[in-house]
Amino acid sequence: MNILLIGSGGRESSFAWKLSQSPLLDKLYISPGNPGTEHYGTNVNLDINDITELSGFIRDEIIKMIIIGPEAPLVNGIYDKLKKIFPKLMIIGPSARGAMLEGSKFFAKKFMEEFGIPTANYAVFKKDEFNKAVEYINSMNIPIVLKADGLAAGKGVLIIPDKQDAIQELKNIFEGKFGIAGDTVVIEEFLDGIEYSVFVITDGKKFKMLPIAKDYKRVGEKNTGLNTGGMGAVSPVSFIDDDLMIKTIVKIIQPTISGIWQKDIDYKGFLFFGLINVNGDPYVIEYNCRMGDPEAEVVFPRLKNDLVELLKAIYDDNLSEYTIEHEPNAAVTVMLVSGGYPEKYEKGKYITGLDKVKDSLVFYAGIKKENGRLVTDGGRVLAITSLAETKEKALEKCLKNAEVINFEGKYYRKDIGFDI
Ligand code: AMP
Ligand code: GLY
Repeated sequence: MNILLIGSGGRESSFAWKLSQSPLLDKLYISPGNPGTEHYGTNVNLDINDITELSGFIRDEIIKMIIIGPEAPLVNGIYDKLKKIFPKLMIIGPSARGAMLEGSKFFAKKFMEEFGIPTANYAVFKKDEFNKAVEYINSMNIPIVLKADGLAAGKGVLIIPDKQDAIQELKNIFEGKFGIAGDTVVIEEFLDGIEYSVFVITDGKKFKMLPIAKDYKRVGEKNTGLNTGGMGAVSPVSFIDDDLMIKTIVKIIQPTISGIWQKDIDYKGFLFFGLINVNGDPYVIEYNCRMGDPEAEVVFPRLKNDLVELLKAIYDDNLSEYTIEHEPNAAVTVMLVSGGYPEKYEKGKYITGLDKVKDSLVFYAGIKKENGRLVTDGGRVLAITSLAETKEKALEKCLKNAEVINFEGKYYRKDIGFDI
């Protein structure tokens, strides 16, 4: 079958790598893709907001499956629009209603409350309820967690140690710091623990769990400095024992999927649980309606199953017939980023040494081609993924290859997988 993959980051590069191994795949198109996805398929430049253009392409190229990498098109209803035009198209990604689990923090909190899924205590306030919100902040323990309700490109969560500062930030959010995403704000209790990421493939009724991962969001070693889109990831996650695993499934994953079914939400695709382990008990920090980045860069290399077959099973209604098989080796991915990221950084730096990489996968993220040469084109430039019997050995391979790839301002963390 022909597949169209939407997106252009490291996540989509790892998707393209994995999909390209499937015997079920005829042609893979990636829109817009990057010079890395071109190794596995054909990049095309479609305006995904233009449904006429998109559906023309789907028809002309006989696309049977479309996979939506990032959240924004899902929240904007791409599933619902395409479903109307192509009732038989396999669309991987939830309906707009399902995507609200990521697109509205308030919706997600209400959902968790309704189905008894453990999460931080919270209250919700609209722009015109500033005084009530201040009262609530004053009644809380510190630090205070403020969350813009809507999508804010991963920047909409603030953790503030001081109440007066939190009140000031709340004001900034209500005044438009995150645009209309901040017209409603969730204020919640801070949970102290270690985070991990769980991914499932679901048809809205049944689910299959993919390998568990942990990402490293802070820019600095030992988890210091500013939050980024992710500096690396590891899979499996060493602190997850059988007890935590069972609690994760029973208290979180099963009730979530059952809630989706009970509320009659059309959900066919990936569901990403951002979880935190608080003294041996799992809590939901957030839901995402897609795969994680950079988690995908370790999850897919550890997934032995044919990904196309699993995704097709969603639509063939036989997901339960499959058993997920994990590569026993550990996977580590290290992101090479532009100097200065996540604040100001320069683009357009020549990238060299890619041909010298040995024994690792390189997933391109912020890279473009300029006059036939590869140059940096974003904060997160590329992900180096390695597999080995231990995460120590996997990290060692990543770091060796991180040395041989060069661009001006290159920076990366050397402690991925080793903060705890
Ligand atoms: P998000 O943008 O929703 O991924 O949140 C960003 C990060 O904020 C999360 O990965 C957590 O590290 C942190 N976070 C969000 N909510 C809480 C909470 N209630 N307690 C502790 N940390 C939180
Ligand atoms: N790695 C976190 C995310 O994809 O949102």
